[in-house]
Amino acid sequence: MTRRRNTTVTIPLAAIRTETYERLGEYAVIAPIARGGTAGVYLGEHTYSHERVAVKLLDPFHAGHADVVDRMFAERTVSQKVSHPNLLEILHADRNALGLPYLVMEYLDGENLGDLAERGPVQIDAILAISTQIACALNALHAAGYVHCDVKADNVFILYQTTVGGWPRVKVIDYGVAHKITDTEIEATIAGTPAYMAPEQWRGAPTVQSDVYALGCLLYELVTGEHPFHGTLPQLMLSHCEAFAPRPSTFRSDIPAGLERLILRAMAKDPSMRPSMIEMEVELAVLLRTMNGVAEADLLVAS
Ligand SMILES: Nc1ncnc2c1ncn2[C@@H]1O[C@H](COP(=O)(O)OP(=O)(O)O)[C@@H](O)[C@H]1O
Ligand SMILES: [Mg+2]
Repeated sequence: MTRRRNTTVTIPLAAIRTETYERLGEYAVIAPIARGGTAGVYLGEHTYSHERVAVKLLDPFHAGHADVVDRMFAERTVSQKVSHPNLLEILHADRNALGLPYLVMEYLDGENLGDLAERGPVQIDAILAISTQIACALNALHAAGYVHCDVKADNVFILYQTTVGGWPRVKVIDYGVAHKITDTEIEATIAGTPAYMAPEQWRGAPTVQSDVYALGCLLYELVTGEHPFHGTLPQLMLSHCEAFAPRPSTFRSDIPAGLERLILRAMAKDPSMRPSMIEMEVELAVLLRTMNGVAEADLLVAS
């Protein structure tokens, strides 16, 4: 299986003060952390308070693409509308001296879920603890009027230093293709990551249920180590719209029957046949409690 990966670099703290790349308003950019699709992500520091931040700076190549520039500023707007312990906070948005947009974000110390998943199978109880928090974050985002539209392993961050109910805190990141929910439907565009896109998202009409579908695909991937579907872009589109993936238990025998049922329901072709995101959150938490005796309330009420 070949997955597109962001390259994450581990930076020894002692080494990072030696060079300052660029000054952005009150922040100094210190060292690269990762590469995104259209932007670089850097470690930064506030000039006076020395607060550590992450800075996402658009690549010069995309400076002329108005839609990419707009999407970066829109990320800040999404973050302003919703504050939740499982959602990344974006503190500030501006342009640098060259006119390139940048975002100043809370710095997340940990690793993205894509890196974790690539090291090998993830324990079922850890999958449940992580995905309950993802569902919790997405419920907050939906309540604030947004569909994430790009739920995937690389857009989930695991903070090992902070725990929730004994498990690492999870943050959903990257509001780059988030859509505002209008009264009836979402403004149509086709955007997202093909391995996780629901049939209606391929048709340019994502709803909150498209995030449920993507979470189903993410759960499938964490449990089995495989995306549900493979192939070229047209093959992926056809498979997500019409094909049925092998049951997760085909790949992994220790999957609880309730989790397999939930994943398959979340990946239903018809959005109305999928559980709601609230049901996802509750069912995942209950499955975890059943497995480990962890208090459901500890997971749902993040401190
Ligand atoms: N606030 C942050 N703190 C630490 N690392 C981050 C932060 N935001 C993003 N990253 C890292 O940078 C990668 C790319 O960021 P992301 O916002 O997903 O960009 P893109 O929209 O290009 O995918 C992420 O997968 C993550 O590994
Ligand atoms: Mg991303």
